[in-house]
Amino acid sequence: MSDPVTARTPADVTVGGAAVDGAPGDDHRLVVEDLSVRAGRLGLVHDVSFRLGRGERVGLIGESGSGKSLTALAVMGLLPEGLSASGSVRVSSVDHDLVGASDARLADLRGRVLSMVFQEPMTALNPVMRVGDQVAEVMEVHDLASGRDARRRAVELLAQVRMRDPDGVARRYPHQLSGGQRQRVMLAIALANEPDVLVCDEPTTALDVTVQAQMLDLVVRGAAERDAALLFITHDLAVVATVCERVLVMYGGHIVEAGPTRRVFTAPRHPYTRGLVRASDLGALGVDGTDGSLRRPLPTIPGTVPPAGAFPSGCVFRNRCERADEACEVEPPWDGLPGDGAACVHPYDPEDTAAPGDTAASEPGGVT
Ligand SMILES: Nc1ncnc2c1ncn2[C@@H]1O[C@H](COP(=O)(O)OP(=O)(O)O)[C@@H](O)[C@H]1O
Ligand code: SF4
Ligand SMILES: [Mg+2]
Repeated sequence: MSDPVTARTPADVTVGGAAVDGAPGDDHRLVVEDLSVRAGRLGLVHDVSFRLGRGERVGLIGESGSGKSLTALAVMGLLPEGLSASGSVRVSSVDHDLVGASDARLADLRGRVLSMVFQEPMTALNPVMRVGDQVAEVMEVHDLASGRDARRRAVELLAQVRMRDPDGVARRYPHQLSGGQRQRVMLAIALANEPDVLVCDEPTTALDVTVQAQMLDLVVRGAAERDAALLFITHDLAVVATVCERVLVMYGGHIVEAGPTRRVFTAPRHPYTRGLVRASDLGALGVDGTDGSLRRPLPTIPGTVPPAGAFPSGCVFRNRCERADEACEVEPPWDGLPGDGAACVHPYDPEDTAAPGDTAASEPGGVT
């Protein structure tokens, strides 16, 4: 896929409340500090901190159940009933914290300053409203266009997301569109008001491969044309390697590693990231420095992600980690630079590149 964007400002990333580089708001679109999510007494996301620069594309990866969606929903102020957020979420163009802001205030900011594309567009689209009206509505709600103007702009947006016959599509209902078309309608809605921050939560997981590549291209271009910061959530490392300049790795509600995509994928420091890289097909892209010849079957990370509340104390990964010892019974400190390092007491050496299938722990068998 072509890459129409060049990096501008690198995101600084920290974990566990460590100081972040630079003053908040200088050239950052989004600054998240010590963001935690709880269900009553149960912690689900723990002290997550990261920054997204103007026009920057950052991936958030991890197995299912790692806390990626809850992090995104907490940033958007969209947590489901029963869950609460603490910490800080600041957007450069807004002069107050989003955590603790009223529902009315958050509703005003959503779709205008921050917008999100979800994995399953049918749950986010109104089934009984024509799609053109849904795209127009998001502009009308925020007073950015109205009446005929909003409808004309909606058709333009549908054309921008490469809908053939955008006029005809605008008159259709969501169930009359394919999955890929519905995702593009969601993207048109998300981009309608020129947001500062675009969050995409597994937007291509349900799409077939050709449609997926087209959607990724539209997301990247849509964000770039608006200079929006992009937070791209996926469990597919190949997608991150294609789309993102930087990556955050999440496990057990913690960011366990962060850094430039190439560094994280070629020389992962955290054993969890190493497992993810080994279990991915990045070798086929040459991203991990191999010649592209894959061993089959692909290794997977031993064990499964525990349910919330059942992670071990200390390092959350220690019941699955090939390097675990007594030192891992306390929560590991961040090792490395704020935006480039890992939360591990025995990280792999930066010089130690990841070769797929390079330890006994990665051998298939005894694996879930
Ligand atoms: N509404 C909820 N109430 C309680 N636990 C939840 C709720 N939503 C998600 N969880 C739990 O929080 C953890 C993280 O979930 P999620 O953010 O959806 O993970 P991911 O997006 O990485 O797959 C999971 O263990 C999940 O079961
Ligand atoms: S802190 Fe220990 S258990 Fe956790 S990832 Fe590092 S080596 Fe493994
Ligand atoms: Mg999710």
